[in-house]
Amino acid sequence: MNTPKALVFDLYGTLYNVHSVAARCEAQYPQRGNEISTLWRQKQLEYTWLRSLMGEYRNFEQATRDALVYTCKHLGLALDEAACDMLCQEYLRIQPFPEVPEALRRLNALGLPLAILSNGSTHSIRTVVQHSGLEHAFAHLISVDAVEIFKPHPRVYELAERRLALQRSDILFVSSNAWDAAGARHYGYPACWVNRSGGCFDELGQQPDHVVTGIDALAALMEARLGAPRAATSESAT
Ligand code: 2OP
Repeated sequence: MNTPKALVFDLYGTLYNVHSVAARCEAQYPQRGNEISTLWRQKQLEYTWLRSLMGEYRNFEQATRDALVYTCKHLGLALDEAACDMLCQEYLRIQPFPEVPEALRRLNALGLPLAILSNGSTHSIRTVVQHSGLEHAFAHLISVDAVEIFKPHPRVYELAERRLALQRSDILFVSSNAWDAAGARHYGYPACWVNRSGGCFDELGQQPDHVVTGIDALAALMEARLGAPRAATSESAT
C-alpha cells in the first residue's frame, strides 16, 4: 500500500456513535432504547440502499425519519409528530467515539488532510461535526447530496478523489461499516476497517488493507508510517 497522502472517513458508526440516540429513545420508551436504536439504524441503512436501487433519492435525514417511523410501527410503539421530530434531532447530536478527538489531533499533527465522505446530507454532516466541536480537524466535509445516490455506489467514492485532487491509490478510506470499506476498496481506495466490536468482514469480494480497533490505533499506524514517534498499535494487517 502507498503511504497515504490523505485520509477519508465515514461518519456514522466510524467517527460518531449512532447509538448515542439510544438514551433519548430509552427516555421516550423505557426499556426499549437499545432495541429501537438498533432497528432504527438497520432500517436507515436499508432505506439508503433501497432508495439508490429505486433511483429515487431522498436525503439521509428523510431516510432516518422514515426508518424511525417503520421501527416504531414494527415495535408497536406510538410515535407522534413531536416525538419523531425530537428523536430525529438527536441524530444531529450524536457523539464521537471517545478516542476520536485525540486521535484526530494526532493525525492532524502529521499534516495529513482529513475528510469525511458520508451518506449524510450536507446539513447533517456539518451539524454533527460542529456540535462535537471537531470541525477544525477536517479539510473537507463531503456529502452524497452532490450526486444524489448513496454509498456504496462508486459515484459517491469518486467525490472524495475529485475533491482532494489525489489519485485514489493515495487515499486511505476508513470505515467501521464493513460494507462501506468493501465498497471503497471495490472503487479502488486502500481501505482501513475499524472493527471495534470484533465482528466479521462482509463477504463482498474485497478485503481491507488494514484492520484497527479504533481511530487511536489508526493514528499509531500512520505515525509509524510517516515517521512520527511510534505509539502502541493494535492494527493487524490482512
Ligand atoms: C455514512 O456516514 C451511513 O455510515 C454511513 O456514510
